[in-house]
Amino acid sequence: MRPSSRWTILEAGAGKGQLTIPLLRRLPGSTSYIAVDSSRGAYRDWLPQLTRLLDATRLRERVRVLNEDVRRMLSVKSQSVNAIVSNELLCDLPREAQLARAFREFSRVLVPGGIMIHGEWSSVPRKDQKSFQVTHNPSWNPDQLSIQASNAGFVGIEFCFFDTTLKFKGESAEREVESWAPAKHFLPKNKHILRKHGMRLPPEHIIFCHKPR
Ligand SMILES: C[S@@+](CC[C@H](N)C(=O)[O-])C[C@H]1O[C@@H](n2cnc3c(N)ncnc32)[C@H](O)[C@@H]1O
Repeated sequence: MRPSSRWTILEAGAGKGQLTIPLLRRLPGSTSYIAVDSSRGAYRDWLPQLTRLLDATRLRERVRVLNEDVRRMLSVKSQSVNAIVSNELLCDLPREAQLARAFREFSRVLVPGGIMIHGEWSSVPRKDQKSFQVTHNPSWNPDQLSIQASNAGFVGIEFCFFDTTLKFKGESAEREVESWAPAKHFLPKNKHILRKHGMRLPPEHIIFCHKPR
């Protein structure tokens, strides 16, 4: 992505800003940024956390934070966004109808030629007997994603696969899991093995596509 300074970028499922903050720091200072998150259930405190983090930096004035569902972004005008990015959002839309609705909404808000980029963990973990395996389920594989993107009218669909994965050792593995809002029993059940063997994340894939010009 080579954003022009006049672009508006929308991050879908911004959460507590794990992508938002580092990305904003790399974008031209005049790009506008919209961070959208529904902030419900296990994630209910994440958008307030992002707002506090932005308030504590000089980045706040560049960002509109919207507490909305990405499938119906009432505050975002049609054809007003140049690029949509997300990380680990699509797995939270596990049903086909949910993903289809989100992709149609992304198409509505994008300008003609606007781009869409989503990063996700792969659905197939890499074999590593020595560390705790994170399996990504539910998840979309690239074939499924490309069909859904194409059904929503997106073109130029490409994928990028990364052959390196992150490994966390000992206590840092435990802290990383804590930061994901895990199910209540996950940490007590797996603490010992996480500390002893560490944890390897699944590999990542990224889908790139754009709305026709
Ligand atoms: C796994 S977290 C990923 C957070 C962040 N993007 C990251 O890189 O770590 C998924 C995020 O998507 C948000 N989310 C899930 N479904 C959503 C929806 N339908 N509309 C808006 N946000 C949603 C959740 O609230 C949560 O913050």
